[in-house]
Amino acid sequence: MKEQVLNSLSKTTTILPCISFFILLLLLQPIAGKSLPQIVSFEKGFTQLFGGDSNLRRLHHDNTVHLHLNQYTGAGFRSSDLYNHGLFSARIKLPSEYTAGIVVAFYTSNGDVFEKSHDELDFEFLGNIKGKPWRFQTNLYGNGSTSRGREERYTLWFNPSKAYHRYTILWTSSKIIFYIDEVPIREIIKSDEMGSDFPSKPMALYATIWDASNWATNGGKYKVNYKYAPFVTEMTDLVLHGCVSDPIQQLVSDDCVQMDKQLETVHYNNITPKQRGAMKRFRERYMYYSYCYDTLRYPVPPPECVIDPLLRQRLKETGRPKFDRRHHRHSKKRNQVFSNTVYEIQDED
Ligand SMILES: *[C@@H]1O[C@H](CO)[C@@H](O)[C@H](O)[C@H]1NC(C)=O
Repeated sequence: MKEQVLNSLSKTTTILPCISFFILLLLLQPIAGKSLPQIVSFEKGFTQLFGGDSNLRRLHHDNTVHLHLNQYTGAGFRSSDLYNHGLFSARIKLPSEYTAGIVVAFYTSNGDVFEKSHDELDFEFLGNIKGKPWRFQTNLYGNGSTSRGREERYTLWFNPSKAYHRYTILWTSSKIIFYIDEVPIREIIKSDEMGSDFPSKPMALYATIWDASNWATNGGKYKVNYKYAPFVTEMTDLVLHGCVSDPIQQLVSDDCVQMDKQLETVHYNNITPKQRGAMKRFRERYMYYSYCYDTLRYPVPPPECVIDPLLRQRLKETGRPKFDRRHHRHSKKRNQVFSNTVYEIQDED
């Protein structure tokens, strides 16, 4: 009897914040109507990286791309141009059912131009065993700072394989914001102390699906099971909004100065108080790892870290994922540009 009461109590305590978060999302709905910069068709903005015709399929007037992973290969594409700052966005639906070992990545990088000093901004979706939800991480590197990973890991408040959701990376000269739909989930303000760790050179947008059996799910405990293949991720309504740049050219053109000003005016650049509330709630509820609170890894948090006492307490209590410092080189097949050092985080079940 007592146990029952306790049980229902703990249920209420988890349900209540969920409901209030949901209400907050409802309040944010009106913003969703704000117009996005031009949607770019595959033909206009992108080129295939790997996978062949059967693994990368273009549909719906070339505004939708399906990326297939089967036992032979994954698939990927990149924007044909590099951009000096920009708004990069897509509506994405992830594979369902058994997704262990699979990674879907949506990121910006210039690793194919700057091998030793590349910049990168990541959304990486990590598949899970059947019945367990997708997790994802965000990360950034600047000027080859691969020895200083800045991972954050989270769960989601919805099932990302059931419907399309918009994932957005805003990168301006002063800040970086990651969004899911209209909820900002992470903001990095450029500071002098960060130096060149803040991405500064033109980057292209990439999207890939690939077999990451050796690290994606619980540090490699669960592999891709091709009995469930093909694994398909759908991406649609891709947005590329930035100043097309030659990465080798040092001088920033007048056009890019104009575009920088324009980027400051897109609604994604201005987080409303409501959105800020949603971001705080998201982070307190769904983030389960942040490098900022990982004192074993960084006894002194990197300079951009803003320490939230509540988060510090919660991340301490929920424990720290196990680490494996093994350096991991991704297969060349996937792409040559992804950072070759992955700081491995092994999730608890
Ligand atoms: C970026 O790294 C390279 C070496 O890899 C270095 O020469 C350069 O000065 C760095 N740039 C900045 C802005 O720190």
